Amino acid sequence: MSKTAIYVEQIVKRFDEVTALNGVSFSVQPGELFFLLGPSGCGKTTMLRILAGLETPDSGTVSFDGEDVATRSPYQRGAPMVFQNYALWPHLNVRDNVGFGLVERRIPRREIHAQVDDILARVGLKGMGQRLPGQLSGGQQQRVVLARALVVNPSIVLLDEPLSNLDAKLRADMRAEIGRLHRETDIAFVYVTHDQVEALSLADRMAVISNGNLVGIGKPSELYHRPPNRFCADFLGRANLLAATVTSVEGEAIHIDTPFGPWVGCAASGQTWRVGETVLGMIRPESVTPGIAPSRGNSFKALVENVQLAGATLEVALREGNTSCHATVLSRYATPITVGQQADWHVSQEDTVVIKQDEEPSAL
Ligand SMILES: Nc1ncnc2c1ncn2[C@@H]1O[C@H](COP(=O)(O)OP(=O)(O)O)[C@@H](O)[C@H]1O
Ligand SMILES: [Mg+2]
Repeated sequence: MSKTAIYVEQIVKRFDEVTALNGVSFSVQPGELFFLLGPSGCGKTTMLRILAGLETPDSGTVSFDGEDVATRSPYQRGAPMVFQNYALWPHLNVRDNVGFGLVERRIPRREIHAQVDDILARVGLKGMGQRLPGQLSGGQQQRVVLARALVVNPSIVLLDEPLSNLDAKLRADMRAEIGRLHRETDIAFVYVTHDQVEALSLADRMAVISNGNLVGIGKPSELYHRPPNRFCADFLGRANLLAATVTSVEGEAIHIDTPFGPWVGCAASGQTWRVGETVLGMIRPESVTPGIAPSRGNSFKALVENVQLAGATLEVALREGNTSCHATVLSRYATPITVGQQADWHVSQEDTVVIKQDEEPSAL
């Protein structure tokens, strides 16, 4: 099967006075599970429709395998789209809905039958070929849509919030299933969502979009643990943000003054830091740990203001002067953390991330 890499360069798309995409560039490797993540209205669907050939950009190029696809119809691009609403033919049964794209391609009937059977089994719909869409649950309908996209054996599939109509439990199951389906193929998936958990748990790589700008791109763990800006820090999870000032820079180590004292942190690569620069020290709640740092690390004393048991974890609110900080620690019967305690806490240098102050991150 042919494999296709996607190149997107400097895409701009305006709708009247709204700039939906403001110069977005990224590439997707063949077979990659690539996410576009961002809040509602940031331009994700517009980007996907441009890839599919359903929307024309004002400027910029989309190429598949180095070839500009501007003049190719959606059909010629061969990148089927899985929508958030199922868009199934209500009067056709599952088999005919799935086989539709193969009939269009003039594939012999017998072969269509075999291919549809095969894909229905792979998406967990064996024996349901005769049902009408209205006789299926939401999760099953979404499987039909996936089957319909995969059956034509494309090298790219575009998914637009495919799980957003499902309830929480089903969403988690289908998420795992999409991951499995992707691993079993060598198809590149471009997957759009506003749900950071979906992206973090499934993506090979992901792009974070804010207001039509691409503001972060990389592997999930990289972006989560080393966010390049405040938007990515906040959007990908919970973040404690401490007002800080750069005091010196030694290679990867950035020394900062924080309300908790002098700390050492690190940062996403590709940024430069100036002594005296006002920055933010970002620490994730789960990296804030009781006790003094065992080796190199940032230790601080703080008052335990509140403790909430959330089952596996304790949510702890800490305060020192005007600065508050959240810690998520594993709950242990033997080591209680109590309100009113003045205690030692620490966070490693690797988990202390220095980020720029900007409210609006600049586009990458
Ligand atoms: N056909 C359209 N006409 C006018 N405005 C549009 C159209 N499509 C999208 N927009 C606007 O472009 C922005 C991005 O929309 P969209 O790509 O659908 O965002 P997302 O999928 O991230 O929620 C929004 O402000 C939206 O209102
Ligand atoms: Mg959308």
